[in-house]
Amino acid sequence: MIERLKEVLGPRRVTTARDDLDNWGRDWTRTFVVAPGAVVFPETVPEVVAITRLANEEGFALVPSGGRTGLSGGAVASRGEVVVSFDRMNRILDFNAADRVVRCQAGVVTAAVHAFAQDKGLYYPVDFSSSGSSQIGGNVATNAGGINVIRYGMTRDWVAGLTVVTGTGEVLELNRALVKNATGYDLRHLFIGSEGTLGFVVEAELRLTERPAPSRVMVLGLDRMKDILSVLTRFQAGATLSAFEFFSELAVERVTRHRSLARPLGSSSAFYALLEFDGDDESAALAAFEDALAAGWVSDGVMSQSDAQARALWALREGITESIAPETPYKNDLAVRIADVPGFLDDVDQAVGRLYPDLEICWFGHIGDGNVHLNILKPPGLTAGDFYARCDAISPELFKLVSSRGGSISAEHGVGLLKRDFLKFSRSAAEIEIMCAVKDALDPNGVMNPGKLLPDRGRERVQ
Ligand code: MLT
Ligand code: ZN
Repeated sequence: MIERLKEVLGPRRVTTARDDLDNWGRDWTRTFVVAPGAVVFPETVPEVVAITRLANEEGFALVPSGGRTGLSGGAVASRGEVVVSFDRMNRILDFNAADRVVRCQAGVVTAAVHAFAQDKGLYYPVDFSSSGSSQIGGNVATNAGGINVIRYGMTRDWVAGLTVVTGTGEVLELNRALVKNATGYDLRHLFIGSEGTLGFVVEAELRLTERPAPSRVMVLGLDRMKDILSVLTRFQAGATLSAFEFFSELAVERVTRHRSLARPLGSSSAFYALLEFDGDDESAALAAFEDALAAGWVSDGVMSQSDAQARALWALREGITESIAPETPYKNDLAVRIADVPGFLDDVDQAVGRLYPDLEICWFGHIGDGNVHLNILKPPGLTAGDFYARCDAISPELFKLVSSRGGSISAEHGVGLLKRDFLKFSRSAAEIEIMCAVKDALDPNGVMNPGKLLPDRGRERVQ
């Protein structure tokens, strides 16, 4: 396998060095075995095709790899697979001002698209904490969401066209950035969120939009979670929100300590909401704040007076993930309908408290989208193994609560290895069967990211 890969790519773009396997064989998760057979670095679409054809001929498996910032193990190689890194396919290829479409290779980093759009006087609105390293191909493969979804939607909403290499090595150009195209199944959308199980995203055409007005950021303190919906509704009545995030007091405690940040408000609250809105809506937002204060929904609040203050308030939200990382969190990315969020949080708190009263929960997330991030922190006295055993016992209880509300066991982090065995809590047996049939049509030999997303049906041809 290694020799044939070297024939395709040359010896310098195929590596089996221990450090390289460890680095490119994993994403941000730390609980899965990392054991790839090799890492390869194609530079062109024909090279990706050649690697895929070789995998079909020789019977080895491929794991597409972007910025490796995933949190569900979708880019982890545990079984001797060949990791296909897009680090060397990182060029912006084309821009069309009339269409406002930028065409880029899969390995372009999200922040580079932001900078490119800004340079053109435009805006690419999909944004999240890992924008500095996540790559467009990975964003498409996981339909990445983030902090602006309430206003701009997910990655899916910005993909005008895709070039993909299917699991058999076929190159498909999907939609070619057309606005209107009523010619049957839109295969582009099958690849968005497919987590590398159908083929490789090698190029994406992304739509850009006009730059929003300069924004303001507000952080509000809330004593009762149930009031957050009244706050959301009141602010939405007067202001155009581009973010409505939340985090708990425990999150504030961790992030202020970790990043040496000032607390947002004079007193502490059980929960905090972070809102971003257009500067033009400042007086409407202040009126909404006064009303929320009078109604007793919020106890205090602060609004940014400069870009630096806005960034400092955002740091409270964006620094949470790294601040709790040393506590080996059991991470869960869940969605319910927005109206169900407060009741859902209560139910989860109670279920975890009943099973394991000594475990602490750090809540945060994109509450305006109904998307919450549950992070259970490992107590210092517990080994990682014992901690994960406890959390594994919690998972089915948790997913039953999600399912009973018609929610999703993965809102924006994908299914990967982490949630594969729980897919049935969000998708019906009929849906999963159809998904498997789609996989069989595009990747009949099962070379593409086997064991991720869909039930592992032991395809013999891959290791
Ligand atoms: C976030 O919203 O900060 C990201 O989804 C990362 C995380 O959940 O840790
Ligand atoms: Zn998130």
